[in-house]
Amino acid sequence: MMKRTKVIDALKCTAYGSDICVKGWVRSKRGSKGIFFVALNDGSTIKNIQIVGDDANFDEETLKRITTGACLSVVGKLVESPAAGQASEIQATAIEILGDCDNTYPLQKKGASWEYLRTVAHLRPRTNTFGAILRIRHNMAMAIHTYFHEHGYFYFHTPLITASDCEGAGNMFQVTTKNLYDLKKDEQGKIIYDDDFFGEQTSLTVSGQLEGELGATALGAIYTFGPTFRAENSNTPRHLAEFWMIEPEVAFLDQEELMDLEEDFIKYCVKWALDNCKDDLEFLNKMIDKTLIERLEGVLKETFVRLPYTEGINILQEAIKNGKKFEFPCNWGDDLASEHERYLVEEHFKKPVIMTDYPTAIKSFYMKQNPATPEGGSVGYKGCVAPGPTMQGTDVLFPSIGEIIGGSVREESYDKLMAEVKRRDMDMTHLWWYLDTRKYGSCPHAGFGLGFERLILFVTGMQNIRDVIPFPRTPRNAEF
Ligand code: 4AD
Ligand code: MG
Repeated sequence: MMKRTKVIDALKCTAYGSDICVKGWVRSKRGSKGIFFVALNDGSTIKNIQIVGDDANFDEETLKRITTGACLSVVGKLVESPAAGQASEIQATAIEILGDCDNTYPLQKKGASWEYLRTVAHLRPRTNTFGAILRIRHNMAMAIHTYFHEHGYFYFHTPLITASDCEGAGNMFQVTTKNLYDLKKDEQGKIIYDDDFFGEQTSLTVSGQLEGELGATALGAIYTFGPTFRAENSNTPRHLAEFWMIEPEVAFLDQEELMDLEEDFIKYCVKWALDNCKDDLEFLNKMIDKTLIERLEGVLKETFVRLPYTEGINILQEAIKNGKKFEFPCNWGDDLASEHERYLVEEHFKKPVIMTDYPTAIKSFYMKQNPATPEGGSVGYKGCVAPGPTMQGTDVLFPSIGEIIGGSVREESYDKLMAEVKRRDMDMTHLWWYLDTRKYGSCPHAGFGLGFERLILFVTGMQNIRDVIPFPRTPRNAEF
């Protein structure tokens, strides 16, 4: 039997006249004057290879079974293609139908809506668009591992099952082996977990950061790259209940260096896509978003704006004075809505923005606190004075995406961290080990979390996060 050649290699091969075997799925078939043409794709590239055959050389039954979606093994002669836009094609001498595909195949018609394709998520990787997205997704994962490996970071595996809530938002999925029909409760009506698998209440992690900090304060620089779970009932094009997050954590990194890292890292990934995913990006640029490649190249040229939250609020207030209407308020202390972020990024600066020094009240307990002023304010990045307490959070806001990275310098002082924990009335029983990092050789450190799917949204130009992960998990949807 002849060894199979991948379509990506067959298309590059110039050994014209030699015999070749390719295998893949029929994208389309047409015919004229006793000659048939099949566009065959095997997923190795966005490009199809054209199979040309003479009807007379094949029995009728075989010809009938070459339908859209069918899986074929083709042996034939590689020849230079007379058709424009392809280097080579195959003159078929033998065709074996590996898998028939009848006319109930859901991907028969072109131009199906994104919504429809989500209902056939088990088959949509076979479409051109999802093939392109999934190859780019793979490439971004390789870019991320390569970036960190080349910069001396260690890939650190943090647990998915945890007894602590990193973000303190309480939107965690529980993990239990308890019989939910017969829950034991104490006198106060609280569930007793003593007899549960772990002997305590456990959940799926919302972030690997806290364990990541343990890694960074030992190995110097680590990153995590794994699934993350959030039971937030956010039915938006930017939220998933299960998404992948990349979390570098670095000892001895200050706020400016953290922002340098965020910017350098994103640019590296975007450049990787431009360098390694040319065919897929050109396809998406043509079919999905005509400004995609231009936007990706634009990001490489831009210097990201570094903007204290307080200055951002001033810009938004100024815009309101000049007639700009927002749905949600944006006074100092408010959490910015995506309309505010998008105004700053897309209309005001027209480039990515790293926002720093958020009000303490809207961010997580572990962020480094800025020095206070006697008036109850605080002093942050480059001397920016805020009217209230602020922390060194550094989020990256992107055009059309909004927040792509959430990061911060971490509070390394045990006393300051504990003061914040008390102020928030947090129960630290399950985080005693985290506090130990501040007791034993505490060090300045910082890190961030990049939402992998939000990066893929940006790099592919897709609009909905459900369409950049093979099998999305969202409220009321766990199919496939
Ligand atoms: O801003 P977040 O909540 O930050 C953290 O979890 C920190 N512990 C990270 C760290 O400093 N190590 O989440 C980080 C990023 C967001 O900026 C966003 O890109 C993405 O994760 N993200 C989501 N992506 C998809 N669906 C969701 N529900 C997401 N929630 C956050
Ligand atoms: Mg965030």
